[in-house]
Amino acid sequence: MALLFYVVLCLSVWTGLCQIPVNNTPEITPSSLAAKLTSNSVILTSPSCYFNGLGNLSCNSTTTCEIWLVSAKDTGVSNYDADNKMPYIDTRSPYPTAFSSNTSKKYFLTKLGLQKAYPCPIVAGTGYFRVGSDGNCSTPNCNGILPVGSTARFKYVLINPANKTVVAESLWSNNITLYSLKDPEKIDNGFAGRSAAMIVITAILCSFLALLLLLLLIMLIYVLCCRKEKQEIQVPGSVRTYDTHNLKEPSPYVNHAYEDEPQRPTATSPIRLKSYTDYDLKKPATEL
Ligand SMILES: *[C@@H]1O[C@H](CO)[C@@H](O)[C@H](O)[C@H]1NC(C)=O
Ligand SMILES: *[C@@H]1O[C@H](CO)[C@@H](O)[C@H](O)[C@H]1NC(C)=O
Ligand SMILES: *[C@@H]1O[C@H](CO)[C@@H](O)[C@H](O)[C@H]1NC(C)=O
Ligand SMILES: *[C@@H]1O[C@H](CO)[C@@H](O)[C@H](O)[C@H]1NC(C)=O
Ligand SMILES: *[C@@H]1O[C@H](CO)[C@@H](O)[C@H](O)[C@H]1NC(C)=O
Ligand SMILES: *[C@@H]1O[C@H](CO)[C@@H](O)[C@H](O)[C@H]1NC(C)=O
Repeated sequence: MALLFYVVLCLSVWTGLCQIPVNNTPEITPSSLAAKLTSNSVILTSPSCYFNGLGNLSCNSTTTCEIWLVSAKDTGVSNYDADNKMPYIDTRSPYPTAFSSNTSKKYFLTKLGLQKAYPCPIVAGTGYFRVGSDGNCSTPNCNGILPVGSTARFKYVLINPANKTVVAESLWSNNITLYSLKDPEKIDNGFAGRSAAMIVITAILCSFLALLLLLLLIMLIYVLCCRKEKQEIQVPGSVRTYDTHNLKEPSPYVNHAYEDEPQRPTATSPIRLKSYTDYDLKKPATEL
């Protein structure tokens, strides 16, 4: 209804000076693209379907109409809204000086392409638009980066290329606040979010590695200590360890020895023979 009212108003007053408001709002792309928000750039949803089905335009939707993006910072929103009925809107606030002084208009326009290049429904390759992909560029309507850490708002507009008049426009996006970086070296790279994530991952991995090394060290120390203790016991030889066992559990060992002795070949050494005879002498004594 509002749209119809506006169109009627436009026709009745003066067709050339009115823009058709379109009830669409640009926003940060919901897809999982890397670096969709950085310190100076942002990836927005596509303007596909924003301006479809509009009639009575001063440009032709299938041949001449163009889609542009307005990027604005704080007062740039009201500055653009004051300028948007003027022809040659593309020259009102050229990019290189758009944010450089306190008298700058703080908005700039970038051409995305012909309306027909953004068909509805969305086709692959037109699903999003990255603001700032030309870096800190120098032509009036290049796709320049935004001032680092700024809060910006965006609007897609349909432009008649004959005299660069705005024939239709979307709503302003919400405030989109870019990342503010402490490291000035990273101003121009578009991967601030990714490198921050990498730093976190690296830190976590390092902690795990340190923990693992500590555990290995503890295990190594433990193993070395235990081996030393075992060696201390075993140093006097296997015969003595048998002796300690014998003291703790005398009866089973004595029985084994008694049974083992006769099976061994006799008379190989005189000592063995002696011990055998000793047992023999003792045995009848206990039985008696
Ligand atoms: C711009 O050109 C169109 C024709 O392409 C004309 O209808 C319109 O009135 C012009 N607007 C201005 C502001 O000159
Ligand atoms: C376009 O303008 C014509 C008259 O110039 C009018 O009959 C028609 O209803 C308009 N179409 C729309 C969609 O406003
Ligand atoms: C737009 O251009 C195409 C191709 O030149 C033409 O067929 C169509 O009628 C034009 N539409 C309008 C509204 O002028
Ligand atoms: C703009 O900057 C100039 C100096 O560069 C200063 O004198 C002036 O007061 C500033 N204006 C505003 C509105 O901040
Ligand atoms: C672009 O570079 C100029 C000169 O180095 C600088 O003054 C300006 O702030 C830069 N623009 C942005 C948006 O970083
Ligand atoms: C955007 O932020 C500005 C201050 O930077 C504030 O005045 C304005 O109300 C905000 N707009 C919205 C839609 O949040």
